[in-house]
Amino acid sequence: MSTMVKPSLQHRLMTEHDLPGVMEIENRAYPVPWTIGIMRDCLRIGYHCWAYEQNGGLVGYAIMSMAMDVGEAHILNLCVRPESQGAGIGRRMLEHMLELVRDSGCHLILLEARPSNPAAIRLYRSTGFEQIGRRKAYYPLPDGREDALVFALDISSA
Ligand SMILES: CC(C)(COP(=O)(O)OP(=O)(O)OC[C@H]1O[C@@H](n2cnc3c(N)ncnc32)[C@H](O)[C@@H]1OP(=O)(O)O)[C@@H](O)C(=O)NCCC(=O)NCCS
Repeated sequence: MSTMVKPSLQHRLMTEHDLPGVMEIENRAYPVPWTIGIMRDCLRIGYHCWAYEQNGGLVGYAIMSMAMDVGEAHILNLCVRPESQGAGIGRRMLEHMLELVRDSGCHLILLEARPSNPAAIRLYRSTGFEQIGRRKAYYPLPDGREDALVFALDISSA
């Protein structure tokens, strides 16, 4: 009988030096990726930008803003490199985001997902997120625009 040992997932704050690796993943993971300028702005503004590594290599990243005055966190980007998807990394990254939000004192987490993204939708629903709305034509597509489903999780009841 063989035993599968999952490589451990390390997290650390993202820095400017990570951006080439982040962009290499971003460009392959999304139909309309963020630009490096958007990533840089997220770092400069002081959003919570985290890098996730396995065996010393970047496998994913997550970016979140927190509005402490209203107690709301907003997950803006959660991304696992295509080769590593479906292995539980996205769920562990999301759990890390939830831990950060709990520790911060925020009570609500918001995020958007494309209706055409079943992996993300299943991940969020199975974590307790509920759909609270729909933003019309929110995401650009190579040939048009796509709505966003808006999800929320009340962390005080999670
Ligand atoms: C969405 C994403 C972050 C999920 O991360 P992941 O590491 O692939 O997902 P996990 O292996 O942790 O799986 C978590 C859950 O997602 C769902 N899921 C994952 N892959 C799926 C697939 N191909 N189809 C349907 N559901 C899927 C399942 O509910 C799964 O839970 P389960 O394994 O207990 O059934 C990842 O696929 C990704 O980075 N996609 C590209 C970028 C993106 O779309 N980000 C989200 C923006 S809203």
